[in-house]
Amino acid sequence: MATVVVVGAQWGDEGKGKVIDYLAAESDVVVRGQGGNNAGHTVVVGDTKYALRLIPSGILYKDTVNIIGNGVVFDPEGFLKEIDTLQGQGVSTDNIKISDRAHVIFPYHKYMDVLAETARGGEMIGTTKNGIGPCYMDKVERSGIRICDLMDKEIFVEKVSKQIDRKNEIIEKIYGGEKLNKEEIITTYLEYAQKIRKYVDDTTVVLYDAIKDGKKVLFEGAQGALLDIDLGTYPYVTSSHPISGGFTVGAGVGPNMIEEVVGVVKAYTTRVGKGPFVTEQDNEVGDKIRVAGNEFGTVTGRPRRCGWFDGVMVKYASRINGVTALSIMLLDVLTGLDKLYICTGYKLGDKIIQHFPASLKDLGKCEPVYEELDGWKEDITECTTYEELPQNAKVYLQKIEELVGAPIKMVSVGPKRSQTIVREKIFK
Ligand code: GDP
Ligand code: IMO
Ligand code: MG
Repeated sequence: MATVVVVGAQWGDEGKGKVIDYLAAESDVVVRGQGGNNAGHTVVVGDTKYALRLIPSGILYKDTVNIIGNGVVFDPEGFLKEIDTLQGQGVSTDNIKISDRAHVIFPYHKYMDVLAETARGGEMIGTTKNGIGPCYMDKVERSGIRICDLMDKEIFVEKVSKQIDRKNEIIEKIYGGEKLNKEEIITTYLEYAQKIRKYVDDTTVVLYDAIKDGKKVLFEGAQGALLDIDLGTYPYVTSSHPISGGFTVGAGVGPNMIEEVVGVVKAYTTRVGKGPFVTEQDNEVGDKIRVAGNEFGTVTGRPRRCGWFDGVMVKYASRINGVTALSIMLLDVLTGLDKLYICTGYKLGDKIIQHFPASLKDLGKCEPVYEELDGWKEDITECTTYEELPQNAKVYLQKIEELVGAPIKMVSVGPKRSQTIVREKIFK
């Protein structure tokens, strides 16, 4: 068996796309198991930038099979646009398989995402407005429409007609919005169905056979542990399970089929959207990190909130994911800062706590306890081995390793494939 899970161990945008692309070079299969096109995974090859959203980041290797698993919420419009963009960039998109069990995103999901956010007012979550939450709501309510339904015209028209009538009632009566045009949605989606049919498959079988045949399989996490619907900073989370366990349900494999779990983390912390952020630096330091790290969302272009590395949070993320290796990203962004700070505990009232609290009220009251470290001035973007890194950078990484309790196996010093230090091979 040769299976590796790559997950975000903060609030998303940790650089998973880069790590997946790097490991995809030696993978036979790359699989997404949850989320949808709320994800934005950037891969830089030479001077070309690829922004992947729903399509797995293994797509840049023409022989790699890219699976969109059953736990993903699938937006056909977004998918077809992404295919067009990739083809325009000269990328082959033949090797994609979409689970026949994945749920489909419809225009009413996107519209209701916007309407619900507006209705939340000051308490808005700051969603990506891609209809992710509303689609998962239908799935859990057991009224959702799956890819296998979309593939069967008769079943599809019957199900979607009922669903549009129900949604239009909610849109009009609860939110005071405008009714959506039923015929237009049906016609458009029947056209989508024809276009995606060739990709649809029972992906659980494809995956099982690949693992049994000893192929190298990479599970591509989207979002991050702190955005998990159960274990994240609820309600400021996404509506799925971005942790390693999410792949057992979201890709349809047994937990014993996952060997290595790579936790991807930035050398600092960022978050888009609302919710408490203990180590946030809403000041000059945060601005410096934002500019140096180009911390603006791949999907929405929103400026990301920036702060120091939060050891309490990453230790928690590491525990709930069963992380066996860390990949530290964007270390180059910290170059030039005189002093660096790592959060080693939270002060809550008169107590120092080491565990990430469930209550947002408590989390909001937590004060970071920092360890101060010296920064480095040397340019590290050309370093190709761990040994070449400045001493202070190594001390910084060692502190993270100790605090989180997992070995750092990869370090990234720039967005390009070549700017990757591998201390220990991930695929054995
Ligand atoms: P993902 O959602 O986890 O795949 O991460 P994103 O792609 O949304 O955001 C990470 C950003 O950091 C992208 O713009 C990457 O090109 C960039 N990036 C990744 N690794 C590095 C690195 O080591 N240094 C720098 N400067 N940028 C990086
Ligand atoms: P990648 O895979 C960062 C955040 C949104 C919002 C919350 C809910 O690129 O790391 P949603 O649209 O999912 O209902 O929004 O989750 N969010 C992300 N933040 N990176 C992502 O994906 C995200 N996907 C969702 O900003 O706060
Ligand atoms: Mg992203």
